[in-house]
Amino acid sequence: MRRAKISIIGAGNTGAACAVWAASKELGDIVLIDIADGVAKGKALDLYQSAPIERFDCNIQGGSDYSLIEGSEIVVITAGIPRKPGMSRDDLIKTNMGIVSSVAEKVAQFAPEAVIIVLSNPLDAMVYTAWKASGFPAHRVLGQAGCLDVARFRAFLSMELGCSVEDIQALLLGGHGDDMVPLPRFTSVHGIPIDQLLSKEKIDACVQRAKVGGGEIVQLMGTSAYYAPASGVIQMAEAIIKDKKRILPCAAYCEQEYNVAPGAKGDGYFVGVPCVLGKGGMEKIVEAKLDASESALLAESVQHVKDLVAVVKKLAAEKNEQGAVMFPKLV
Ligand code: APR
Repeated sequence: MRRAKISIIGAGNTGAACAVWAASKELGDIVLIDIADGVAKGKALDLYQSAPIERFDCNIQGGSDYSLIEGSEIVVITAGIPRKPGMSRDDLIKTNMGIVSSVAEKVAQFAPEAVIIVLSNPLDAMVYTAWKASGFPAHRVLGQAGCLDVARFRAFLSMELGCSVEDIQALLLGGHGDDMVPLPRFTSVHGIPIDQLLSKEKIDACVQRAKVGGGEIVQLMGTSAYYAPASGVIQMAEAIIKDKKRILPCAAYCEQEYNVAPGAKGDGYFVGVPCVLGKGGMEKIVEAKLDASESALLAESVQHVKDLVAVVKKLAAEKNEQGAVMFPKLV
């Protein structure tokens, strides 16, 4: 049987961590692409040399040549600059928009049937950029944010409760990180609603820590997190490759769903929502019934995503006015 192929663009901290998690799960053959040819080649070789010890069978190749990604089922985009202390994710928009746009065009050229999973920040705006630049149908473009945000929330709840992370279920919606929408009403521990086990103050503290969880790590390390974000990517990739129909929170294309942009007519937004993931990528958005305060929080978060996308559109229009035709499919 032919093995699946996962290509990862950007062989830095997050890209390399994606490769390690994918290899450890033996998800398929792995390709690492980076503008730094030697870095991608070196990391691929280094990881492959762990195979006899870790006992995984997959080919791992690296380099700057995009023809390596041909035939990929999944292409993960991690290329871009990460945050430094004092920066918000939004501060990365100008640089990363140019990088993600050029990478997505290459993906469309060399792996036209792939499902794209974007990790570069600011996430919700970069997924939109990848969608426009690749020209892919929206169900084959996704962003990883929710899997990480939920994992962070579950990790903090488990520290508070002293129970296994495995027994905690949670749901979050909206944009990535600071303005995500936590839903304690949909959070449970082995089926027991979380508010029966923790006070509101303690739940709120876990929510707050999850929201700024990325910033906490940037402060500690001087750069963005990578193990857990990469883990979120590979959770999505596994669901797609194995056609598992898992319901995972992803940045997915929405119009009328969750009332994100009811009149969008083909130019909607990518927002964190629970999705069924299978062979085709995003197969369905699952709509939970929200109460008035949850809906208001989501509307606020969606507005932030729209503001970021407006910046993307403005930058693209400016570039085109200057005759650069850098992001031709964005405007
Ligand atoms: N094509 C391919 N690779 C590129 C390009 C490009 N046009 N531009 C930059 N890169 C590569 C860099 O050479 C580097 O190896 O992207 C890699 C980024 O790696 P890191 O600097 O280690 O950053 P990382 O921590 O992986 O974060 C990447 O993901 O989580 C987000 O906020 C984070 O936007 C950031 C992105």
